[in-house]
Amino acid sequence: MKRKVPYLKLFLPRRRGIAVRLAVLSLVLAAITAAWCLADLTSQVLVPPQPILALDHYAINRSLKSYLDNISVLIEPSITVCSDSERVELLVLVTSSPKRFVQRQAIRDTWGKHVPAYFVLGLDGVAVEDLTADNYLEAKEYSDMIIFQFQDHYQNLTLKTALMMQWTAARCPSHLDELMLFKTDDDVLVNPWLLRRVVRQNSGKDLVGYRKMNSYLHRDAYNKWFVPRWLHRPDLVPQYLSGTGYLIRGSRLEEILQAAFEIPIINLEDVYFTYIVSKFKLNLTLTHDRRLSPYKPWLPLDCIYWGLGSMHSLTSNEMLGAWPSIERLGKKYEQGFENCRYFVVNIWTELFLC
Ligand SMILES: *[C@@H]1O[C@H](CO)[C@@H](O)[C@H](O)[C@H]1NC(C)=O
Ligand SMILES: *[C@@H]1O[C@H](CO)[C@@H](O)[C@H](O)[C@H]1NC(C)=O
Ligand SMILES: *[C@@H]1O[C@H](CO)[C@@H](O)[C@H](O)[C@H]1NC(C)=O
Ligand SMILES: *[C@@H]1O[C@H](CO)[C@@H](O)[C@H](O)[C@H]1NC(C)=O
Repeated sequence: MKRKVPYLKLFLPRRRGIAVRLAVLSLVLAAITAAWCLADLTSQVLVPPQPILALDHYAINRSLKSYLDNISVLIEPSITVCSDSERVELLVLVTSSPKRFVQRQAIRDTWGKHVPAYFVLGLDGVAVEDLTADNYLEAKEYSDMIIFQFQDHYQNLTLKTALMMQWTAARCPSHLDELMLFKTDDDVLVNPWLLRRVVRQNSGKDLVGYRKMNSYLHRDAYNKWFVPRWLHRPDLVPQYLSGTGYLIRGSRLEEILQAAFEIPIINLEDVYFTYIVSKFKLNLTLTHDRRLSPYKPWLPLDCIYWGLGSMHSLTSNEMLGAWPSIERLGKKYEQGFENCRYFVVNIWTELFLC
């Protein structure tokens, strides 16, 4: 005679007590994580390998000042959050590039509604004529784009970050003492309520982000983060803040830029600005806050999103999919109810990230 065996029981040994069951369950969970995280990794590995050849301009000139003096702003909003005399606690600048309209729109439809956020981009070419009509119209329609006259390229991120700092210092002079600039990317999902909490809890700190310790630079020319030895000789970077999202105190911006003008640039903007300029040259403290995460949740639980101020590497669809949970918790929080508090305090959220 056949007996019906519930599906899950097949995996769980009978009469072996709770410990065994828990162990089996965690193994299953670990396998799911590994599969999900590996899938993400292989999709990166499968990209056809191309050596990074776009570093030539660094061989000609590595003076940040001589680049910045040549780059003008082509389009920017006429009114920004800094035009007001009201206190500005947080300003978010998002690195984007001309073709990434869908990513920008996903941000506008989600977290961009809750924090002052502007997109910073260059041109597909170098000349003013390379500003496409699409980008021009988009900038006119949304008033949230800052377009500079330089070639938008992954290897030019250091210039883009420098332009962000320069723009903030120039356009928000009366707010610099009170604001934190959050430099982030257009594949980052921000939880505005948690990000503001991170800002408040780190008030007075100079630089805050996800601090990576003792990292080795990539020396193989096929890697996206390749840094040749002629750009930076030491192999080891003792500490830096992940470029996916870090906060800089407004009142430090000019000091950091001035210091950078004396140090030849390299292609990794986060290593350059947070380690070489801020830590090594200026001896500023890099504060670690795990809530500004360079990872993303593999398990879409509301409370995992609620534990993070920012998470990285989301497609526009993933962003749109995760947003309703965050917004629902955010609205509740504004009404004085914070769900997930127990979870955030007691569960090690990092288990759910990769
Ligand atoms: C390169 O940078 C230096 C400053 O270090 C500047 O004086 C010079 O004009 C720059 N050269 C070019 C070709 O831009
Ligand atoms: C800046 O512009 C000057 C004059 O147009 C040019 O000679 C120089 O090479 C430019 N510098 C850089 C770093 O592009
Ligand atoms: C970076 O921008 C400068 C200035 O527009 C340009 O000369 C250089 O070719 C760009 N680099 C890349 C890799 O596009
Ligand atoms: C760097 O800063 C730390 C504290 O933030 C201080 O203890 C140390 O002496 C400073 N080092 C130098 C070389 O100024």
